[in-house]
Amino acid sequence: MVSAAAAASSLRCFPPSLGNRGPGAATARGGLVRLSSRRARSTAGVAAPSREAESAASLGDLTRVDFPILDQEFDGSKLVYFDNGATSQKPSCVMKTLDEYYRFYNSNVHRGIHVLSAKATDAYESARTKVANFVNAANSREIVFTRNATEAINLVAYSWGMSNLKQGDEIVLTIAEHHSAIVPWQFVSQKTGATLKYVGLTKEGVPDIEQLKGLLSNKTKIVVVHHVSNVLGSMLPIEDIVTWSNRIGAKVLVDACQSVPHMPVDVQRLGADFLVASSHKMCGPTGVGFLHGKFDLLSSMEPFLGGGEMIADVFQDKSTYAEPPSRFEAGTPAIGEAIGLGTAIDYLSQIGMQKIHEYEILPKFLTSSPLTGSSPSTLTGTHAHHHSAQNLINRRTAYGRLAPLARGGGHGVAIRSGHHCAQILHRTLGINASARASLHFYNTKEEVDVFVDALKDTIDFLTSEH
Ligand SMILES: Cc1ncc(COP(=O)(O)O)c(C=O)c1O
Repeated sequence: MVSAAAAASSLRCFPPSLGNRGPGAATARGGLVRLSSRRARSTAGVAAPSREAESAASLGDLTRVDFPILDQEFDGSKLVYFDNGATSQKPSCVMKTLDEYYRFYNSNVHRGIHVLSAKATDAYESARTKVANFVNAANSREIVFTRNATEAINLVAYSWGMSNLKQGDEIVLTIAEHHSAIVPWQFVSQKTGATLKYVGLTKEGVPDIEQLKGLLSNKTKIVVVHHVSNVLGSMLPIEDIVTWSNRIGAKVLVDACQSVPHMPVDVQRLGADFLVASSHKMCGPTGVGFLHGKFDLLSSMEPFLGGGEMIADVFQDKSTYAEPPSRFEAGTPAIGEAIGLGTAIDYLSQIGMQKIHEYEILPKFLTSSPLTGSSPSTLTGTHAHHHSAQNLINRRTAYGRLAPLARGGGHGVAIRSGHHCAQILHRTLGINASARASLHFYNTKEEVDVFVDALKDTIDFLTSEH
């Protein structure tokens, strides 16, 4: 049995990289070659910083040692992981938390009174408090753990939408929403008769906020918008949208999947009724996400799923329900994963979300880039007004042609290609697919240079006569 002290220390997390740093050990596994830190840097053309240069080391240089997966190469090229929009990598402390949960105190939560269950329950509820503090929720009871952001949106669509929408009502969305924020509302609209109203793009290629404002009327019952777009990298003015929506009594659901991992997000300041995010994009494990909902609103909602944990009393023909958040957490949750999310939050908080946000602004990386002015591609997500410009889209090149780059193209670069679960947006842009490079704080300027070289090589190859 793990001692209380050992258990407490297992839940502690800080980026060791910001303190001591040590080279990783080289181990060969399958086709992948793990690199020592020094070799990894030189393979990518990155000089290992000297002790004197230590203070000038970037956030990427300082933190990447915490992410062992980054320390490997494919076909002689160091991995450059630029698919963080799809999922982020996990620091060692998150993996350690998962290992310790399953090794030392795996047990169900809220059910047993034995020591393991009490410990698992404490850790699970402490993770909820960490999430609440991270997004500045008024109360940890406003945080519902879900499987992911998709489930959180479905929860609102079914639980709130099915009871509050009817024929003639309108749901306002933008064409840039992720499928996760569109399809659940299509289900609800088909069942209730409510209509979906889509906001298009401005000529600059970002969601048209004036059109959104104009669409709002007393028919609007909910506005479903992303905070930062997973394709465009643009950010919507949520506080304004909430103010306009509140005036007409409409609710606002914010899909914060691409903002919560990259910048400070304050749910009280934003003021939205609902906000969702996924752990796996914020350095936490897969299998867990969360919904933030204003407590009174959550309390007024019917359960989404029925089962153990979400009940107060069960009779033969009916049941009464627990208060939120339990009301919306039917069945055994992803316990270790939620605790792992708590560790990821500790890790991110230790670095500081403002620091992460400032570091990740893509235009800064690209100012001295060889890409500037030399590419036939159309780039989005690189403008100064793109608040969290994590995305770099090559709009004119077809998906098939970009596949070599997405697979690495001999440069070890991992980017995403396809429609990024945003088919309506791609159709509006008149393209089938795009390529997206999305960065996180553990990426470096040198990796951006490797990516830009890979992109240039791919474009040269595709546009050359052969
Ligand atoms: C903006 C946005 N919304 C929703 C999702 C869905 O997240 P998940 O698959 O974790 O539920 C994603 C994931 O790519 C996303 O980028």
